[in-house]
Amino acid sequence: MYRSHNNGELRIDNAKQEVCLSGWVQKVRDKGFMVWVDLRDRYGITQLIFDGERTDAGIVDQARSLGREFVVQVKGQVIEREAKNDQMPTGDIEILVTEIIVLNKSKTPPFTIENETDGGDELRMKYRYLDIRRNPVRENLIFRSKVTMEVRNYLSKEGFIDVETPYLIKSTPEGARDFVVPSRMNEGQFYALPQSPQTFKQLLMVGGLDKYFQIVKCFRDEDLRADRQPEFTQIDCEMAFVEQEDILNTFEGLVKHLLKEIKGVDIAEFPRMTYEEAIRTYGNDKPDIRFDMKFGELNDLAKEKGFGVFDSQELVVGIAVPGCAGYSRKQLDKIVDFVKKPQIGANGLIWVKFNEDGTFKSSVDKFFDQDQLKQWADRLDAKEGDLLLVMAGDVNKVRTQLSTLRMEMAEQLGMRESNEFAPLWVVDFPLLEWDEDSERYHAMHHPFTSPKPEDMHLLESDPGKVRANAYDMVLNGNEIGGGSIRIFDKETQARMFDLLGFTKEEAIDQFGFLMNAFEYGAPPHGGLAFGLDRLVAILGGQETIRDFIAFPKNNSGRDVMIDAPSNIDDDQLKELHLKINL
Ligand code: AMO
Repeated sequence: MYRSHNNGELRIDNAKQEVCLSGWVQKVRDKGFMVWVDLRDRYGITQLIFDGERTDAGIVDQARSLGREFVVQVKGQVIEREAKNDQMPTGDIEILVTEIIVLNKSKTPPFTIENETDGGDELRMKYRYLDIRRNPVRENLIFRSKVTMEVRNYLSKEGFIDVETPYLIKSTPEGARDFVVPSRMNEGQFYALPQSPQTFKQLLMVGGLDKYFQIVKCFRDEDLRADRQPEFTQIDCEMAFVEQEDILNTFEGLVKHLLKEIKGVDIAEFPRMTYEEAIRTYGNDKPDIRFDMKFGELNDLAKEKGFGVFDSQELVVGIAVPGCAGYSRKQLDKIVDFVKKPQIGANGLIWVKFNEDGTFKSSVDKFFDQDQLKQWADRLDAKEGDLLLVMAGDVNKVRTQLSTLRMEMAEQLGMRESNEFAPLWVVDFPLLEWDEDSERYHAMHHPFTSPKPEDMHLLESDPGKVRANAYDMVLNGNEIGGGSIRIFDKETQARMFDLLGFTKEEAIDQFGFLMNAFEYGAPPHGGLAFGLDRLVAILGGQETIRDFIAFPKNNSGRDVMIDAPSNIDDDQLKELHLKINL
């Protein structure tokens, strides 16, 4: 037996017990006549004491020879500590060691394995197994497991069936590039790894399974960001005989359940916002509504009033930043510099201080008088003491820029409180979006999303105006899930492919299987998928999903620990009928 207890469970009540513990050596403190060792495992840290006077004299030397991260087994007696540590659950006791066995030695680790480490990102990724020994990383993985269990509990109780779908498939167009896998047995042909199990889950509905879910890996060859990995996990769900309202209720229920069980937070009802309103009021389709700073449009108040910079622009729009009217020139310059950064790309911004005494001071005092600025302030819902920040430009661009500034100001002012949760549904997404590069419409969600029946008449005349039965769930400014009610008849699906620029042959070649299935009694159906990594990270109070994935990829899509991707040898290439010309 390696252990009678783990390193997190012994308390003062265990005093005088003989115990056996195993774990890793975190720290050795040599006080000459006595040595203390911190022994760590998943459950915590227990202090060991090696005292030659009270036990065998040789034991102190044995303890001295231990290095960091050695794996040891010790036997001894639980005793009350003289100097207690109330920061540790086991801080009242220590183990007076009588016997120690080194189970395995360790090289000196390349970074310290403590809560605060000296290891940089790449180094910790290379030695991820050591990083996982650190509390914060381990806690994140345990947290993820807990969330996943709760998801399974909830969905099983609701009657969802967990079905696995294949990983070697034909590509489905979800907007990103596919990862492809060459087929040895079918020369010159490739499988694609699924960007999501979209078409399969729809086929499961045609198959009559009624309620499907899967916690499933998805693969997308896209540029990486803090909230994106090339392989990530979805909680993928689909239901038959449902309307949008059924889906929203079911999955709002799931997120409420998670917030309650995991965070102890009760949220009565999630607000709903149309896509159009989200864009107009927050400048993006995943608004962080933990704080206000809603956009106010100022065209009628600011254009054609003698300030030429505004006159030529499509949209003048601003926000009121609470309590910042006292900002110094230097602070204001910093904000201006922020929006001028190339990533944001604005030419500048106008600021207006709404002073505590009700007067205004602005960077455009020459052009606008106090009464006019008061009108701006009213439009932006500003109060005395607020700072108005106003930008102008092309509608889409300026909204995006102001939205970035809004988030930045909230961040600076500590308004993005990680333990506050503000979920919402964004609904009524457009069905299509115009792509400048390819000069054609793309499906905003995916080609299987159904148009709103009341907008069907616009399909030919004004396709860009057609709204879809599509929805996203947003949590704290992040899109954590999205889905739609699907097309379930062959004609509409064929018409959609046509709109998206597929020829009849291409549509049949790529999606014949789905359209055929629709001819055998497909039920009305819809669903959604949550990004599990994102959901877990946000519930865990963070936004970087890498910290919640056991073995993540770095920003260039590499696994630096196993060194993938890598070359393969010529024989392998030949077998796969591949030639590489570099
Ligand atoms: P969608 O493409 O919106 O929908 O994806 C669903 C959710 O998956 C998460 N997500 C990601 N997470 C981490 N890294 C990525 N690269 C990544 N890409 C997406 C997001 C997103 O909301 N088949 C549809 C769902 C449906 O219609 O039912 C789909 O995949 O949180």
